Amino acid sequence: MKVTSKPGPLMAPLPTVMVSCGDMENSNILTIAWTGIINSDPPMTYISVQPKRYSYEIIKKSGEFVINVTTEELVKAMDYCGVKSGRDVDKFKELGLHKEKAEQLAVPMIAESPVNLECKVIETKELGSHVMFMAEIVAVHVDDRYVDEKGAYDFGAMKFVAFNHGKYYRMGTKPLGFFGYSIMKPKTAKRKRREAHEARNKKK
Ligand SMILES: Cc1cc2nc3c(=O)[nH]c(=O)nc-3n(C[C@H](O)[C@H](O)[C@H](O)COP(=O)(O)O)c2cc1C
Repeated sequence: MKVTSKPGPLMAPLPTVMVSCGDMENSNILTIAWTGIINSDPPMTYISVQPKRYSYEIIKKSGEFVINVTTEELVKAMDYCGVKSGRDVDKFKELGLHKEKAEQLAVPMIAESPVNLECKVIETKELGSHVMFMAEIVAVHVDDRYVDEKGAYDFGAMKFVAFNHGKYYRMGTKPLGFFGYSIMKPKTAKRKRREAHEARNKKK
């Protein structure tokens, strides 16, 4: 049996990201849970922002923002960026976060975040409570501590955080499977096990 409730944004898990905006001198960070990937090629994303947010006008005017992915280490800072306004506090300063120059945009990236997506707004859509900024991801940066010599990302080690209906959750650090593993051939499974074993031994 299911309990039916009134319609609402009850999807979980969601990412909750720290979105930086502005420029290296005058910048701000706000927390956004209404985000996701909407296209692969070109890579596209969106953020939905309430017009009353201080960041709203900044993003609307500049047409740029950076998505900084949240980790367990950053979760408290992420929450703070979602309850304090840039109208009242300098969130970078208050949280001791460092600005890193982006490659394509004037917007600073958060150095402490291991994944930064530089985004250029291509369309703005008023939805109701929120305005959606649809954007192209024009550059991606990953902390090299989490990239191995083959260019593979260690997402487990980054310790990402999930947002489930108002609460922040730790995510598992070990993968449960991989894209297509439900139909892989035994030969592939054997090779994968061998590779994982070799990788573990290398780390020791
Ligand atoms: C976990 C979390 C998720 C949030 N998601 C959104 C969101 O998707 N869109 C939005 O407009 N505000 C969202 N907020 C609220 C803003 O981050 C918050 O109002 C913030 O203080 C705005 O900062 P600013 O006034 O400096 O722009 C969220 C807050 C939290 C804590």
